Amino acid sequence: MVAMRGSPVSRRAVQRFRKLGSVKIKILLGFCILFTLILLVFRASTSLPWQQHYSLVDQSDVHRKGYTLLINTWKRNDLLKKSISHYAECHGLDSIHIVWSEPSSPSESLIHYLEHVVQRNSKNGRQIELKFDINAEDSLNNRFKEIKDLKTDVVFSIDDDVIFPCSSVELAFNVWQSAPDTMVGFVPRMHWLDQSRGNQEYYVYGGWWSVWWMGTYSMVLSKAAFFHEKYLAMYTNEFPASLRDYVAQNRNCEDIAMSFLVANATAAAPIWVKGKIFEIGSIGISSLGGHRKKRTECVNRFVATFGKMPLVSTSMKVVDSRNTWFW
Ligand SMILES: *[C@@H]1O[C@H](CO)[C@@H](O)[C@H](O)[C@H]1NC(C)=O
Repeated sequence: MVAMRGSPVSRRAVQRFRKLGSVKIKILLGFCILFTLILLVFRASTSLPWQQHYSLVDQSDVHRKGYTLLINTWKRNDLLKKSISHYAECHGLDSIHIVWSEPSSPSESLIHYLEHVVQRNSKNGRQIELKFDINAEDSLNNRFKEIKDLKTDVVFSIDDDVIFPCSSVELAFNVWQSAPDTMVGFVPRMHWLDQSRGNQEYYVYGGWWSVWWMGTYSMVLSKAAFFHEKYLAMYTNEFPASLRDYVAQNRNCEDIAMSFLVANATAAAPIWVKGKIFEIGSIGISSLGGHRKKRTECVNRFVATFGKMPLVSTSMKVVDSRNTWFW
């Protein structure tokens, strides 16, 4: 050691080592500071007002119309109560239409309960409307029946067994306001041409895992989507009767039908908005076997009647930029 320190070569080595060491320490220090800053920002962000309380829907502007919750339900009053209690709290909700297809009319106690929920959430000059749209027959086409006295231009079509946070609903509503002819929703699905069939034009329906894998979609399902109310009238009055019958008989594919209708009218893709989904019911039909085969049959049946494939694929996804602070 003593002998080495004397030599000029080793002294230079030691100096180089010191220099290198100080650079490393600076980098390390830099990382520590950066990490602390990130931690601080992250902790602060969870308590910042725009994260928690600020609503995207401007409530002060009373002239601005909100949306109608169009909820489809069947013999699940507990889920209906839960859903409506939740959505009644969301800003921008003007009206609630319950598509009722059960043989007996809604019970007094159910009506009383829901009216109470609506009253509780009607404040600051906002009066939420509550309506049961009673249907004589039980058909899946009921959920897209034309509504003559609708208060808003847009419906938020929803199943009774899924709940999305108000922040997600408001984001989707905002997206729809920017693109009022487009279907804007939370549940994407896709289709593709079956190459193995050669010249025959045959399409395959792809569920959530296909969308997840490919990153593209061409439909958003009406179990959770915003669309203009004019499409209800179009579905009721202009959509091919043979396809409406097909939907009613198979008790399936009304959501694909609406996707076809809007795609044919706009020649554009729908918009997928990222939203957190909470399933409050038991497993639905999409979890049962044979589902995809049936959906594929629907797609091909619709293509045959339309005489073309109207669906347009896209890979665009809308996210709330407040939740993605790492730009
Ligand atoms: C598709 O859109 C065209 C043009 O808007 C319309 O004439 C046609 O009837 C639509 N097709 C169906 C099956 O609805």
